[in-house]
Amino acid sequence: MEKIKSGIYGLNPLLDGGININSTTVVIGMTGAGKTTFSTQFIRRGLESGQEGIFVSLDENKEQIVKEAIEMGWTDIQNFIDEDKLVFIDASGLEFSQFIKKELPDFVGSWEGANARIAVDPLTPVIWSTPDRYEQRDLIGFMLKETRKVGTVLCTLEEHGTEGKLVGNETIIPMYLADCVIHLRNRYIPDEKLERKLKIVKARSSRHSELEHDYSIIKGLGLVVNAEGYPRVIESEIVTKLAEQFGERGRELPKYVFDRINVAFNDLRDHDLENLNIDSLIETVINEYSED
Ligand SMILES: Nc1ncnc2c1ncn2[C@@H]1O[C@H](COP(=O)(O)OP(=O)(O)OP(=O)(O)O)[C@@H](O)[C@H]1O
Ligand SMILES: [Mg+2]
Repeated sequence: MEKIKSGIYGLNPLLDGGININSTTVVIGMTGAGKTTFSTQFIRRGLESGQEGIFVSLDENKEQIVKEAIEMGWTDIQNFIDEDKLVFIDASGLEFSQFIKKELPDFVGSWEGANARIAVDPLTPVIWSTPDRYEQRDLIGFMLKETRKVGTVLCTLEEHGTEGKLVGNETIIPMYLADCVIHLRNRYIPDEKLERKLKIVKARSSRHSELEHDYSIIKGLGLVVNAEGYPRVIESEIVTKLAEQFGERGRELPKYVFDRINVAFNDLRDHDLENLNIDSLIETVINEYSED
């Protein structure tokens, strides 16, 4: 799977090198968690490597987003706009189902096949535009399907209600539909520094960290994730041993099964096998086919 750099400092190693190209990512967080900053950073990273950026805002207007980006230290944002490398779609105040079903496909039609980055910040008003859960799923699904024709998609979602539990009605449908889900959790501890944690909830077709990582928001950089502790083990000692042992004991398997699993094992890293006993892993695989 081809990866693109997320632009979020420290995040790429947690996603095995970056975000899968042409995938959809949802970033969930409470107010102030850094969703807009994340979106701008993601778009910026694309601009820096020659990709175009499309910022779909359903909430704040373009001027507000540009102003915040400049405040963040990204003063060159206006140059990208002037060069038509960065495009804003201001859908605030529009009727969303009309926007998604009609105007968005028209726009996508003119950009189809472009290798752009698209950020939708935040997606939440789309969910609130109808109480009908089926229609919500239909709208979000359609929107993700359309936008990914243009490139790699990032949507943000507001988290309301109980802190950091990811159970809000408005988060469930997009979480299912997205390829990758990143949760930004902030905890206000009295008399202490704000605690910020990032967790990758899922990442289809990718290895990823399952840990919670501290992050900060720093002027001029944006989100900076502390990736320490992942991957926990990088050597390939266990994998080498596994391949050796499987090379001997796996011979009793049908050849095509042996070959396939051999390839799979050789693609692993020690980190993947951390909590496994390799003898019993081999045994388990062999047992599956023992009565064939
Ligand atoms: N210019 C800046 N300098 C320093 N820190 C900043 C700056 N801009 C934003 N931040 C920090 O980033 C935090 C999150 O900002 P951001 O607007 O990205 O959050 P958000 O999740 O989009 O919030 P909302 O739900 O209100 O849209 C701010 O609360 C602040 O702590
Ligand atoms: Mg925001």
